[in-house]
Amino acid sequence: MTRPARLALKGFVWGVCLAPLALLAYRAWNDDLGANPISFITNTLGDWTLRILLASLAMTPLRIVFGLSWPITLRRLLGLFAFVYVCLHFAVWSVLDFFFDWPRMWADILKRPYITMGMLALVSLIPLAATSTTGMIRRLGARNWNRLHRLAYFAAVCAVLHYLWLAKVGVKDPYWYAAALVILLGVRVWEWGRRVMRRRRGRAAPASPPVGSRAENPLS
Ligand code: HEM
Repeated sequence: MTRPARLALKGFVWGVCLAPLALLAYRAWNDDLGANPISFITNTLGDWTLRILLASLAMTPLRIVFGLSWPITLRRLLGLFAFVYVCLHFAVWSVLDFFFDWPRMWADILKRPYITMGMLALVSLIPLAATSTTGMIRRLGARNWNRLHRLAYFAAVCAVLHYLWLAKVGVKDPYWYAAALVILLGVRVWEWGRRVMRRRRGRAAPASPPVGSRAENPLS
């Protein structure tokens, strides 16, 4: 992919990821956040965290299934946007719901399993955000970086459980997200199985490069 095309694609992703925040600000400005503004803001930020997190996890499966390499260039950006959204989501919970009452917040994390899962997801995204710089990728090496960044799947599993456990009976959305995550994980497991089989048979290098190889280079 040419440099201008890559820049245009990244610009597009920036626009798509910032649009929900802009819309939220616009609605807040117009006093249009519904009967329960705190809940509306929390839920909107939670929804977008999950969407962007799953989008970041879809980039490698797109390469595996369709042989496309350009989605890999967006993975880091999407992951960072997911982290920004979850920080805002968490900030609303800690500031507007608890006003930094740490003992009550801690009790809530231990008491409500869906909050425990949300926290686990947030905490597992921290090392990923912290190692997202080019310098850290170079220091860790692409292979170790890719290994560490598999934590994103754990974060996504916790995030989906968070949504499943908080949703009211009859709400179907969390099941759609769970299905999407199962498909994304399934593609990775299928690719892993294929590589193991190929290695066992002692065949030559695969047509599509394995995860963690140069083609999976996060700096590409
Ligand atoms: C990656 C991490 C997280 C993701 C993907 C996520 C996602 C979501 C989603 C999708 C919703 C429901 C939105 C809706 O109903 O439309 C939600 C609601 C909520 N989340 Fe999270 N969340 C995460 C982390 C957290 C954390 C760390 C906390 C607090 C410690 C938290 C607290 C809440 C609360 C209080 C609600 C609203 C529940 C209600 O409506 O009663 N979340 N989140």
